[in-house]
Amino acid sequence: MPDRRPLIAANWKMHKTRAEAGEFLDDFLPKAGGLAGVDIAICPPFTALATVSEGCEGSEVLVAAQNVHAEDSGAFTGEVSPPMLVEIGAWGAIVGHSERRHVFGETDDDLARKVPATLGAGLVPILCVGETEAERDAGRTEEVVRRQLEADLASVPPDALGGIVIAYEPVWAIGTGRTATVEQAGEAIAFTRSVVGEIDAGAAQAVRILYGGSVKPANASELLMVEGIDGALVGGASLDPGEFLAICEAVDRGPT
Ligand code: 13P
Repeated sequence: MPDRRPLIAANWKMHKTRAEAGEFLDDFLPKAGGLAGVDIAICPPFTALATVSEGCEGSEVLVAAQNVHAEDSGAFTGEVSPPMLVEIGAWGAIVGHSERRHVFGETDDDLARKVPATLGAGLVPILCVGETEAERDAGRTEEVVRRQLEADLASVPPDALGGIVIAYEPVWAIGTGRTATVEQAGEAIAFTRSVVGEIDAGAAQAVRILYGGSVKPANASELLMVEGIDGALVGGASLDPGEFLAICEAVDRGPT
C-alpha cells in the first residue's frame, strides 16, 4: 500500500484580514501541535500570506497561496509570481480553483503553464479539477475531469507528477452545503488517479488527491475514510479554528 500522508488544506478564499488571520493562528496552532499524522496547510489571501507564514514558523503547518502566475516577473498587473511566494515562505499554491476558472475565466491553457511554473519554483501545486452540476447531470463528469487533468498536466515531467496535489472539487458542492456522496467522491477520485496512472503508474500511487466541497466536521470522517481520498480542501469550515481543527483531527493518524 502506498503511504500517502493525509493533507487537510484551508482555502480561506477572500476572507480574513491580517489581524483576523493572527487571531485564528493564536487559537489554532497550539491545538494543532498535537496532530502528528496529518499535513495541514493554510491558504490565506495574498495580503495575509506573510502574517500566516511568520505565524506558522516553528510549527508544522504549511502555507500556500490561492493563485499564482506562470511567469517569474513582468508586466502583469495584479499578479504574483512563484519566486515571490517562495520568498514569503510558501510551500505551495492552489492552481485552477473553480472560482478562478468560472469567475475569472482561467483556462486550461493558463493552467498548463501555471502547474509546471509552480513546480519549477519548488512549490507544490494544488491543482483543482471538477465538473459543474450541468456537466454531472449530462453524464460528462469523467470527460471533464479527464480533459482538465490531461491539459493542465501536459507539460509536467512524469517524474514530477507524484509531487503535486490534486483536489477534486465538484463545482455544485462548493459553498452550497451539498456534499458529494461517499460513492460520488470515491468514484471521481479513483478516476482521477487512473488518469494520472495513464501518464505514469508510479505517480498515480504517490500523488495525493483531496476532496473539496462542503467538507464539515460532521461529514469529514465519513468522506476521508474512503479508499483513495487523501484529505480535503476546505472552504467555509476552515474559517473557524475549532471547525478546521475537528476536520484535521478526523484524519490524523497519530504519530508514526
Ligand atoms: P466550501 O468548503 O466552502 O464548500 O469550499 C470548498 C472549496 O472551494 C475549497 O477550495
